[in-house]
Amino acid sequence: MLNHRLINPPREPEKFVKAAITFLQKHAKDKKVFCALSGGIDSSATYLLLKEANINTIPVFIDHGLMRIIRGGEERENIKKLFPEVMVVDIREKFLPKIYGEEDAEVKRKLFKDAYSDTISKVIKEEKCDLLSDGTILPDIEESFGVKISDLKETMSLKEEVSLKNKNIRGFVKSQHNLDIEYDVEATIQPVASLTKPEVRKILEYFKMPNELVYRKAFPGPALSARIIGPVTSENLKFEKKVHDIVESTVDDYYTEKFGKPMVINDKGEQEPFQAFAATTTDVLLRKVTGIINGQRTYEVPLSIKGEWDFEKLVHFSSQIKGYARILYELYESHEGIYDVLIRSINSIDARTASVTNLPLDLIEEIKYKLLEIPDTKNIYFDITPKPPATIEYV
Ligand code: XMP
Repeated sequence: MLNHRLINPPREPEKFVKAAITFLQKHAKDKKVFCALSGGIDSSATYLLLKEANINTIPVFIDHGLMRIIRGGEERENIKKLFPEVMVVDIREKFLPKIYGEEDAEVKRKLFKDAYSDTISKVIKEEKCDLLSDGTILPDIEESFGVKISDLKETMSLKEEVSLKNKNIRGFVKSQHNLDIEYDVEATIQPVASLTKPEVRKILEYFKMPNELVYRKAFPGPALSARIIGPVTSENLKFEKKVHDIVESTVDDYYTEKFGKPMVINDKGEQEPFQAFAATTTDVLLRKVTGIINGQRTYEVPLSIKGEWDFEKLVHFSSQIKGYARILYELYESHEGIYDVLIRSINSIDARTASVTNLPLDLIEEIKYKLLEIPDTKNIYFDITPKPPATIEYV
């Protein structure tokens, strides 16, 4: 299997789109292309480029049941609204029982990767697709290969890539759930491989897509299984979807009212907020969650603090304290209810580092009161840790 990537394209959206059309027609003319849509900005931009280049494309959305809900709408409904022609493959009944009860974060990721790649392979076979197109972007590639995009060639074989990776093992950060999979296609085709997220947003603006898509917050590949700490169950999944919706929608409303859009580029060049979400578990203070101490990924219990709200002081404290990678500011303590809720809102350029969003206390309190209306909410915390020493997600 080969990988075709558009390398070093012009950055200005109109010129970029022209270059992408030439690239897509060169590699995919007269071929049938499978395009996995996740509902996120990268795969949406990829699909719009394929359409613009008149490539015979099958857009596919895999509904595994662990997608977020935004403003009461399930992701499959959102994607149908954006792209009515999308094929929705529903694997909920088969996939969810497999992941229910699984505690280990890496096993959850593996189950996810397998379900995802098996489903893609099945559709590729049924639909007789020649190529697979995806929304791999610049940080995905640079973190996986440990090299700069300009060190790659437009067309490379998987074998060449593995050898390049092995030579640059020190620059390697993580393997993406959607990379390193050998599909039964001639090649993958990656038109947005040289772009950063803000550049992808510009392409969506060029295509006049609605603000809800252009400024959509990033979402982890393993979806809500990365936000339910410990085992996923059908009960905590329902709860997580509700509390997540409250946090993301309330933060979006605040930014939209203040700035006219749900995300801004702040004076540090960060997308603010890059992600705003809720995570959940029982007894979070007894749970080990991910962090980065001395450059190493760690698994440690968080520290909870309470007292007067002073954003700058609290965030400074949480970035300096030794021995902990995660500091939670206690907003509400209860002896009733089942699930603890962690509110996390971070700003970031490319998710490699992140700062805590300086949300006003009034807004945080508003979120807290909305969360308390959901039955089963127990303790509520606001995560005040930058990355590093924390990671963005908890698993
Ligand atoms: P962390 O938690 O490592 O997350 O600071 C960095 C960014 O990556 C997203 N994330 C993932 N994305 N597969 C993905 O494709 C994964 O397994 C995964 N885990 C985390 C996370 O949402 C953040 O944007």
